[in-house]
Amino acid sequence: MVTIDNVSVEFHGTQRLLRAVNGVSLSIREGDVFGIVGTSGAGKSTLLRTINLLQKPTFGRVVIDSVDITCYSGIDLRRVRQKIGMIFQQFNLIHTKTVFDNVAFPMRIAGKPQTEIAKRVLYLLELVGLLDKIYAYPSKLSGGQKQRVGIARALANDPRILLCDEPASALDLETTNAILDLLKGIHRKLGITMLLISHEMSVIKKVCTRVAVMSEGVVVEEGNVYNIFASPQHSLTQSLVAHSLDLELPERVLGSAKGALVKAVYKGIKAEEPVLSDAIREFGVGINVLHGKIEYINDQPLGVLILNITGNEQGVGQTIEYLRTRTASVEVIHG
Ligand SMILES: Nc1ncnc2c1ncn2[C@@H]1O[C@H](COP(=O)(O)OP(=O)(O)OP(=O)(O)O)[C@@H](O)[C@H]1O
Ligand SMILES: [Mg+2]
Repeated sequence: MVTIDNVSVEFHGTQRLLRAVNGVSLSIREGDVFGIVGTSGAGKSTLLRTINLLQKPTFGRVVIDSVDITCYSGIDLRRVRQKIGMIFQQFNLIHTKTVFDNVAFPMRIAGKPQTEIAKRVLYLLELVGLLDKIYAYPSKLSGGQKQRVGIARALANDPRILLCDEPASALDLETTNAILDLLKGIHRKLGITMLLISHEMSVIKKVCTRVAVMSEGVVVEEGNVYNIFASPQHSLTQSLVAHSLDLELPERVLGSAKGALVKAVYKGIKAEEPVLSDAIREFGVGINVLHGKIEYINDQPLGVLILNITGNEQGVGQTIEYLRTRTASVEVIHG
């Protein structure tokens, strides 16, 4: 278990003091895949780097398995770091070393015997699907292949925690999905605790079980990924979720709609109930579905519908109230 306890990080600029992380507290349970999402400059990387003390907190504590590591240095810090792997957006491979030597590097630093190193490099390269590139240099690899090397290297010393700072942001969509699937598979196979930064909710949705939303150094919202998608509270979370669900309507439809435009979110099994036909019958309104989808988040269905409700004012109002009782959330977009 990783506990970030009231951590702040300050940087002294030439003009002023910048508090990049401001009093953040989080608990990451053993085996969780914990996402950190937020806009650029929110302090995500700085926060992540406090966990392996690549960044020392100015205030607060980082506690791993009940041990406060915040003041660790020297050999103690090296030992802790060996149990925390990290992968980076820009891969950070050593360009003058082969794939084999990149993956072997952390084990050599840790003083592992040569035979053990060779065996483990083979195992890890097979795990990430890159055995055929074992003697290639990074310059001969695609972005996706480079990140596979980065992942193998991060796992070299059999860490219990894997820190992933935007691991797929430099990659195209297909390669992004392949890397995220690989991370998911590694989590399933090794049961490792993972923290993953992204600026996109769609990435968080694919791999994470919990998520913290950061803005200007502060965690503004935190919870189970499914619940955050079903009912985001903070305006930043709402906009990140809306962007990821991609339910934008064309201006023409928004401008010409009569009656009320409503976004309704259904959770779990309720996604299958005949809520709309019940409302039409009960309140004598017309309901037209303008947009909708069912998303599966951690294998649970989440239905999102954009509805145009027409009829007399009272019927429309009653329908909205009724939908509120039957769905997870209802947002009136217009009307
Ligand atoms: N070493 C540093 N020295 C001074 N300022 C820094 C340092 N590292 C980060 N910052 C500043 O701290 C703030 C948070 O940066 P950070 O890299 O943690 O944000 P981020 O959420 O990871 O952003 P991005 O999505 O762009 O990677 C920014 O204003 C950044 O300029
Ligand atoms: Mg960053």
